[in-house]
Amino acid sequence: EEAARADRFQARIDAEERIEPNDWMPEAYRRTLTRQISQHAHSEIVGMLPEGNWITRAPTLKRKAALLAKVQDEAGHGLYLYSAAETLGTSREEMFEQLLAGRAKYSSIFNYPTLTWADIGAIGWLVDGAAIMNQIPLCRCSYGPYARAMVRVCKEESFHQRQGYEIMLTLCRGTAEQKAMAQDALNRWWWPCLMMFGPPDAESQHSDQSAKWKIKRFSNDELRQKFVDATVPQGQYLGLTFPDPDLAYDEAAGHWRYGAIDWEEFKQVLAGNGPCNRQRMKQRRDAHAAGAWVREAAMAHAEKRTRRAEA
Ligand code: 3HC
Repeated sequence: EEAARADRFQARIDAEERIEPNDWMPEAYRRTLTRQISQHAHSEIVGMLPEGNWITRAPTLKRKAALLAKVQDEAGHGLYLYSAAETLGTSREEMFEQLLAGRAKYSSIFNYPTLTWADIGAIGWLVDGAAIMNQIPLCRCSYGPYARAMVRVCKEESFHQRQGYEIMLTLCRGTAEQKAMAQDALNRWWWPCLMMFGPPDAESQHSDQSAKWKIKRFSNDELRQKFVDATVPQGQYLGLTFPDPDLAYDEAAGHWRYGAIDWEEFKQVLAGNGPCNRQRMKQRRDAHAAGAWVREAAMAHAEKRTRRAEA
């Protein structure tokens, strides 16, 4: 009976039907989506930290307002995604606990430091650019709540990418020191952004099954290549040099060939040994502890309202 139900489920997926929370689904489908969506949500929340670091030090009021709006958007993306993950049966508290206990991942990219204002430009241009590449196909993910959350996220992400690129353009048209800051930021963020797309397809343990279930519409390497092809011309327009001597355009293939990615660095960052892993986790744990009284007060208020309604 279970095999027949799994076959019927796969037939729905193959027919491009959307799976909704109350539909029957294989436990492994539920598990892998809970894993991916909750870690995507954790990425949005942790991603607020490197950028938040520059809200009080933005160079102008205009830049401060745009960065504030972007960080607030990331918080909202996190909330949509935790809500989407909750429809699969795991509570928000449980997901928070997994992150704070170091049992859940978040995107490797947020374990790098934001050393100058130019990093805020590079993050908007490159990190949000990479996130868009990854999130557009997720709008067509077979699981309804995740796909619908992605549609809203992608609209806001494109503003993030544009404001980042505009920061980089301003710096590159500024003084020699400003252009050097932009080049330094590109040098430090380029390779970690390529790692955002995940391990090479040959080492991606979830890709095959995620592709079969139409959670993943493109492989890690396909999205990485799309990102490189779209981004290299943008960097050239800025007059910047990519930190990759092997970067060369392959006319025949119509793609930019790039050098070897340091997967040992990627493994180290995932193992918790990146430049900022400990700092990011401490900041999250401290923020969660500092916010406990707000959560308790909100719960007490909600219970009082419920008692009054039932009285
Ligand atoms: N950082 C941390 N962990 C990563 C990773 C990365 N960049 N890339 C892969 N991994 C992990 C996977 O989670 C998996 O570990 P797990 O089994 O413990 O979850 C393992 O490495 C093997 O990788 P796979 O390729 O087999 O895993 P997936 O099929 O899940 O593919 C993924 C990885 C492409 C990141 C996929 O999970 C995905 O598309 N996630 C949703 C998108 C997302 O999380 N984006 C975060 C970008 S940052 C962001 O969105 C904020 C933006 O506003 C700036």
